[in-house]
Amino acid sequence: MTVLDLHVLPRAERSRTRKLRAAFFESFEKVHGAEPRVELDLAQRVDELPKIDEWDVEAKFEVTYGAGELDETLAQRWDALSRLTDQLHLARLIVVSTPMWNFSIPWHLKRWIDCVVQARLTFQFDGKDFSGLLKDKRVIVLTTRDGVYTEEPTAAAMDHQLPYLRWVFSFMGCTDFTAIAADGMAWPGREQSLDDACARARALASTL
Ligand SMILES: Cc1cc2nc3c(=O)[nH]c(=O)nc-3n(C[C@H](O)[C@H](O)[C@H](O)COP(=O)(O)O)c2cc1C
Repeated sequence: MTVLDLHVLPRAERSRTRKLRAAFFESFEKVHGAEPRVELDLAQRVDELPKIDEWDVEAKFEVTYGAGELDETLAQRWDALSRLTDQLHLARLIVVSTPMWNFSIPWHLKRWIDCVVQARLTFQFDGKDFSGLLKDKRVIVLTTRDGVYTEEPTAAAMDHQLPYLRWVFSFMGCTDFTAIAADGMAWPGREQSLDDACARARALASTL
């Protein structure tokens, strides 16, 4: 199974989300050995992503709303976006490891999403309905957060991270979505939360 290991982990050994990701892949590799794994390190390599400047937008609009006629400049821009969506099409399993930032996702991950959510590449519109073009994939999101967003509705309403990721992946066709969150990282008495999430990540990975 080809795996896309997509992560935003600016912190090294102190990163809790990195620990959760390590737990997942240790267990996954026990079952699957060295399956092809494509790593996309967004914290280190975000500058290599298209910026979605005027020409990227022009290419996007021409493909989405026009006849799809791209001159050389726009074709190059479209190719760069397609290389990123090719990684998605090739993967059977997409693992996204990211902390929550300001109730949402880090900007690096949003930039990647703005690159890959593209008509004809990852979704289509037939004049009436939208449908996703990514088929037969499983998405697993591993996250850690200082707050607790799962225990009461007011806090759950502040979570613009996991509901957003669930929606945006389903828009591209990936409806098989699982999240493992270690919440309450900054709350006294929640020290066990990360170890519990690591145990859930190991257990899930061993079943894949
Ligand atoms: C820029 C920034 C914004 C953050 N915003 C939130 C937030 O809105 N809600 C929250 O619960 N935690 C927030 N946190 C805390 C992190 O989600 C939390 O500490 C997480 O465990 C960090 O992951 P890491 O150890 O992998 O870096 C924020 C952290 C940073 C650096």
